[in-house]
Amino acid sequence: MAIYPPEPFRIKMVEPIKRTDRQTREAALKRAGYNVFGLRAEEIFIDLLTDSGTGAMSQHQWSAMMEGDESYAGANSYFRLAEAMDEIFSFRFFVPTHQGRAAENILCAVMLGKEQYVPSNMHFDTTEGNIRARGGRPTNLVIEEAFDPKNRHPFKGNMDICKLRAFIEQVGGEKIPFGMITITNNAGGGQPVSMENLKAVAAVYKEFNIPFFIDACRFAENAYFIKLREPGYEHKSTLEIARETFALADGATMSAKKDAIVNIGGFLAMNDKELFQNVKNELILREGFPTYGGLAGRDLDAMATGLREGLNEDYLAYRLGQTAYLGERLLEVGIPIVEPPGGHAIYIDAGSLLSHIPQSEFPGQALSIQLYLEGGIRGVELGSVAFAYPDPDTGEMIHPRMELVRLALPRRVYTQAHLDYIVGTLERIMARKDEIRGVRITYAPELLRHFTAQFEPL
Ligand code: F0G
Repeated sequence: MAIYPPEPFRIKMVEPIKRTDRQTREAALKRAGYNVFGLRAEEIFIDLLTDSGTGAMSQHQWSAMMEGDESYAGANSYFRLAEAMDEIFSFRFFVPTHQGRAAENILCAVMLGKEQYVPSNMHFDTTEGNIRARGGRPTNLVIEEAFDPKNRHPFKGNMDICKLRAFIEQVGGEKIPFGMITITNNAGGGQPVSMENLKAVAAVYKEFNIPFFIDACRFAENAYFIKLREPGYEHKSTLEIARETFALADGATMSAKKDAIVNIGGFLAMNDKELFQNVKNELILREGFPTYGGLAGRDLDAMATGLREGLNEDYLAYRLGQTAYLGERLLEVGIPIVEPPGGHAIYIDAGSLLSHIPQSEFPGQALSIQLYLEGGIRGVELGSVAFAYPDPDTGEMIHPRMELVRLALPRRVYTQAHLDYIVGTLERIMARKDEIRGVRITYAPELLRHFTAQFEPL
C-alpha cells in the first residue's frame, strides 16, 4: 500500500481552483486545437503540465522578495545570490538568466559551431532546440535500462560510459565543444544519475579535453536520490552531495524554476575566465547587465533563499515521497508508468497503455486529451509530438523510443486528495481504453513543436 508522507508545512494562503463540466472541457479543447498548452488555466482543475515555475514559495522567499534591491548594477540582491551560489555550486563565475533556456542559448551562442555535437544522457527539449538552432547536433547516450519502463534500476538517468567513449572516438573530440548531463533526467522519467556515474562521465570528458556542463534543474532531487540509494552517501548531507557533484564539472546551466522553487529565474555558471567574458557580452546583448540577467532584484533574492530551501532534507523526503505515492497508486490500479517513480513527475507509459495506437498517431497526445476530457487534468505529452524529428541526413522521421505522458508535480502545491483524484480519473480512462483513437497533426512549427502544434482527432 502506497504511503503518503505528511507535508512538512502548513498552508497559509490558498488559490481557488474549479471543476468544470465535460461539455465545457470539450469546447475548450477544440478551441485549443487539441493541444493542452492552448487551454486557459481557469479551464483546468489540476494542472500537472509542469513543475517549472509553478511551485509555492515559502514565507521566507516572499519576505526575501521584499528586500529586493532593484539597482541596475551591483545590487545587494545579486551578492546575496552569489553567496548561495558559492555555498552550493562553487563555480568561479556565474550570471543570472531569466530562465534555463536563456542560459542554454548563451552557452550555445558562445561555444557551439555548426555540425558540432553535444552529448548528454538525454537533453531536454529546450536544450535540444537551442543546439539545433545553432546548427549543432544533440546526442543522447543514456543507459539502455532507461528505455525499459519496468526496469527498476536505481539510477536510470546514468549515461552509458562505453557509448560516450565510443561516440567521442567516432566523431572526434574537436567536434564536441562541450558535453553535458541532465540531473535528474527529465526527458527519461525524472530519473537520477549516481555520483559514480557523474565521476565517470567527468573523467571521460576530461580525458578528451571536453568542458563538462551539468544541466542542474533538479540537482537537489538528484542529491537526495543519491543519499537514499547510493552506498556511502547515506550519512552525507544533500548540500555535501551537491557540492561534490558540481566540483566534477566545468560549469552548469540551471532553470531555477525547478529546484530553487521560484516562479522565474535561472543561471549559467562556469570556471573559465575567458568563457565568462564572452558570456557576459552575450548576456548584455540578450538578457541584461551581468548582475541581474533578465531578472528583477527581488527575483534574485527569492532564488537565493529557494536554492537553500530546495536542499532541505525534510522537504526533499516529502517531495520524493509524494511523487512515489502517486506512482505506486497508479501501479496498484494497473496503469503502466516509468518505474521506479522519478523525482518531479510520474510518466505514464502511453505507448503501452494505448498499444493499439501507432506512434505516427501519437498515443501520448491521445492520452493527454483524455486526461483533460475525463478529469480536467492537464499533463504533457513527451513522446513523438515532443521528440520525433526528421533525420538531418535522410529527412526520415525518427520517433523516440517511448511514448510518455508526464504528470509533473508542482512543488508544495497539491495534496493527497488531489493525487487520489488523478488516480481515479486514470482508472476510468483505462476502463474504456480500447475506444480511444489517435490524432493527426494539422499544424506544427519546425522546432519545439509540442508547445504550439495543432491536432485533429482521428
Ligand atoms: N533543462 C531541463 C532538464 C528542463 O526540465 C527544463 C525545463 C529546461 C532545461 C529549460 O528551463 O523552462 O526555465 O527555460 N523544463 C520545463 C518542464 C519546461 O516542464 O520540464 P526553462
